[in-house]
Amino acid sequence: MKASLAAVSAAVVATAVSAGPIEKRARLGLTFVPPSSSPLAQSSNYVGFNNASYPKHDTVSGKAFDRIVQIWLENTDYESAISTPAMQALLPQGVLFDNYYAVTHPSEPNYLASISGDFWGLGDDTFNHIPSNITTLFDLLDDGGAGGKPISYACYQENMPYDGFTGFNYTSKNYITPGASNYTYYVRKHNPCAMTDYISGNKTRALYNRNFNDLAADIGNNTVPQWSFITPNMVDDGHDTTSAFFSNFTNYFLPSLLNETKFNDNRTLILLTFDENDSYTAANRIFTLALGAGVPSSLKNTTDHTYMTHYSAISTVQANWNLKSLGRGDVNKTMANVFPFWADTLGYTNTQVDDADIPMTNLTGIYPGPLSPTANTLFYAPDDVTVTGAGGQPVLVKSGLNTSQTLATLPRTNLTAIGQKPVWNTDPGYNNVNVSQGANSAGTNAAKTNAAARPFVAGTGIAAAAVFAGFALFL
Ligand SMILES: *[C@@H]1O[C@H](CO)[C@@H](O)[C@H](O)[C@H]1NC(C)=O
Ligand SMILES: *[C@@H]1O[C@H](CO)[C@@H](O)[C@H](O)[C@H]1NC(C)=O
Ligand SMILES: *[C@@H]1O[C@H](CO)[C@@H](O)[C@H](O)[C@H]1NC(C)=O
Ligand SMILES: *[C@@H]1O[C@H](CO)[C@@H](O)[C@H](O)[C@H]1NC(C)=O
Ligand SMILES: *[C@@H]1O[C@H](CO)[C@@H](O)[C@H](O)[C@H]1NC(C)=O
Ligand SMILES: *[C@@H]1O[C@H](CO)[C@@H](O)[C@H](O)[C@H]1NC(C)=O
Ligand SMILES: *[C@@H]1O[C@H](CO)[C@@H](O)[C@H](O)[C@H]1NC(C)=O
Ligand SMILES: *[C@@H]1O[C@H](CO)[C@@H](O)[C@H](O)[C@H]1NC(C)=O
Ligand SMILES: *[C@@H]1O[C@H](CO)[C@@H](O)[C@H](O)[C@H]1NC(C)=O
Ligand SMILES: *[C@@H]1O[C@H](CO)[C@@H](O)[C@H](O)[C@H]1NC(C)=O
Ligand SMILES: *[C@@H]1O[C@H](CO)[C@@H](O)[C@H](O)[C@H]1NC(C)=O
Ligand SMILES: *[C@@H]1O[C@H](CO)[C@@H](O)[C@H](O)[C@H]1NC(C)=O
Repeated sequence: MKASLAAVSAAVVATAVSAGPIEKRARLGLTFVPPSSSPLAQSSNYVGFNNASYPKHDTVSGKAFDRIVQIWLENTDYESAISTPAMQALLPQGVLFDNYYAVTHPSEPNYLASISGDFWGLGDDTFNHIPSNITTLFDLLDDGGAGGKPISYACYQENMPYDGFTGFNYTSKNYITPGASNYTYYVRKHNPCAMTDYISGNKTRALYNRNFNDLAADIGNNTVPQWSFITPNMVDDGHDTTSAFFSNFTNYFLPSLLNETKFNDNRTLILLTFDENDSYTAANRIFTLALGAGVPSSLKNTTDHTYMTHYSAISTVQANWNLKSLGRGDVNKTMANVFPFWADTLGYTNTQVDDADIPMTNLTGIYPGPLSPTANTLFYAPDDVTVTGAGGQPVLVKSGLNTSQTLATLPRTNLTAIGQKPVWNTDPGYNNVNVSQGANSAGTNAAKTNAAARPFVAGTGIAAAAVFAGFALFL
C-alpha cells in the first residue's frame, strides 16, 4: 500500500511503501529543487557538460510520427499519479491511456523489456547486461526495416556523469540539500542503453547513452534523435521521493519542452509513463499519457481504454517505420496493441482484451531465464523467428544467435542453491570508451575524464578490472 501524501511530511516514510518480495527504499519527504534553470539549459548540478551534440542525421518519415520520446517516472499507482497537480494540468493536452500496464516487478526488468521485448527472468535490480546476439530495439532502429534507413536513437539520463557510462550508479553534488552528503541520483537499472552490449560495447553507439546536459545541447542544436528514452534522476522520477515531488518535477520539465519546437513538433509523440505501479498486490496498471503536437488534436483531453503494455511502445515504433521485430513480447497479440489513435494509420488491428482477461503482470521472481538466479537458462532465441511483427516484417536474427535454442529447449539451474549468480550479473567492463569529456568551461563542476582503456570508475565501487581477470565477480 502506498503512503498517503499527507503522511509524507515526516522526513522519511519507511515501511509503509513495501508490499511485495522486493524491499523498497524509503521515500524521502524532500521538496523539489529545480536541477537547472531550465531543461533547455546545461547545469553545474550535473557532472558532465556536453561537448558534442548528437550527430546530425536524416529524418526518416514514419507513417504516423517522426519522433517518439518516452519519459519514465517510477513506482507509482495509477490513482496516485493521476491525482497529482502536474498530471491534472497535462491531461487536457494529451490522450490518457487508462489501461496501460507494466510487464513485471521491480524496475530493471521493465526497462529491459522496453527495449528487448522480454525481461529474461529478472526479478531484481542487480547489475546486468545482455549479449549482442540478442536483438533489441536498437538493432531494429539501426537496421531500418523495410525502408533500410537507420532511425536515430538515444537515451537521456539525468545525473549520469558522461556519455557511455556503464557504472552501477553515480553519486554527485547534493543540489537538493546543499552541504549535505553527495547523493546517488543516477542508477544504471533505469537506463536501457547501458544494459545492452550492443550499445555499451561500441564506442560510436556508446555516445547515444547520454545525460541531461546533452539533452539541452541536442535540443539547442536541433539534433534530438527520432527515438529517445528519458530517465529523470532518483528524486525527480519519484523513486526516492513522493508523488508531490515528481509532480513538481514534471511541472518544471515538461511545459517548457512541450513549447520547444526543436523537441516537440507536429510529428512528435511524447509518452509520459511509469516503469511499474507501487502496490504489488494490485494489477500493474500505470498512468500513461500520450502528449506532443503529433497527437491528433481532436482527441486531446480524451481517454482510451485499449489494453496496452510497455511492449506497445515497441510494436508502435515497429509499425511506424516498418521495422523488423524482436519476436518476443512485441509480437504477442495480447500484450502489444499499438497506440490506438494511430492503429488505422499504422495498418495494425488491435486485439480487444476485456478487463477480466488482462494478464497478471504483477508477478516477479518466478520466471526462468538467463537473468534468473533460481531458474537460470542460457539466453534463448524467440520461439518463432518466422513470425511477422507489427512492422509487417520478420524477426531480425543476429549473428551468434542459435535459433533452435528456445526457452523450451533449455535446462534450468538453481544457481542460488549452488552459491552462484547468473554470469550476466557482472560488469562487462565496457566503461572505457573514449567519449564525451564535457569540456564545456561554463561551470565549476568539471566532468570526469573518460580515458580510454580505463575500466575502473572511481566512485562507483565497481572493480571492473576483476571482471577482466576472471568473470566471477558477483555483485
Ligand atoms: C511542490 O510545489 C508546491 C508549489 O510550489 C509546493 O507548495 C510544495 O511544497 C512542493 N512539494 C514538493 C514535494 O516539492
Ligand atoms: C477536459 O475534459 C473535461 C471533462 O472530461 C472538461 O471538464 C474540461 O473542461 C476539458 N478541458 C479542456 C481544456 O478541454
Ligand atoms: C561530490 O560530488 C562532486 C561532483 O558532483 C565531487 O566534485 C565531489 O568531490 C564529491 N564530494 C565528495 C565528498 O565525494
Ligand atoms: C559500432 O557502431 C557503429 C554505428 O552503429 C557501426 O557503424 C560500427 O560498425 C560498429 N562497430 C562494430 C565493431 O560493431
Ligand atoms: C550545440 O552543441 C554544442 C556542442 O557541440 C554545445 O556546446 C552547444 O551548447 C549547443 N548549442 C546549444 C544552443 O545548445
Ligand atoms: C508554453 O506556451 C504557452 C502558450 O504559448 C504559454 O502560455 C506558456 O506560458 C508556455 N510555457 C512555458 C513553460 O514556456
Ligand atoms: C507541421 O509543421 C510543419 C513545419 O513546421 C508545417 O509545415 C505543417 O504545416 C504543419 N502541419 C500541420 C498539420 O500543422
Ligand atoms: C496481482 O494482482 C491481482 C489483481 O489483478 C491480485 O488478485 C493478485 O493477488 C496479485 N498478485 C500478487 C502476487 O500480489
Ligand atoms: C502472450 O502473453 C500472454 C500474457 O502474458 C501469455 O499468456 C501468452 O502465452 C503469450 N502468447 C504467446 C504466443 O507467447
Ligand atoms: C547468445 O550468446 C550468448 C553469449 O555468447 C550465449 O551464451 C547464448 O547461448 C546465445 N544464445 C543463443 C540463443 O544463441
Ligand atoms: C533455489 O534454491 C534456493 C536455495 O536453496 C531455494 O530457497 C529456492 O526455493 C530454490 N528455488 C527453486 C525455484 O528451485
Ligand atoms: C551504488 O553502487 C555501489 C557499488 O555497487 C553499491 O554498493 C551501492 O549500494 C549503490 N547505491 C545505490 C543507492 O544504488
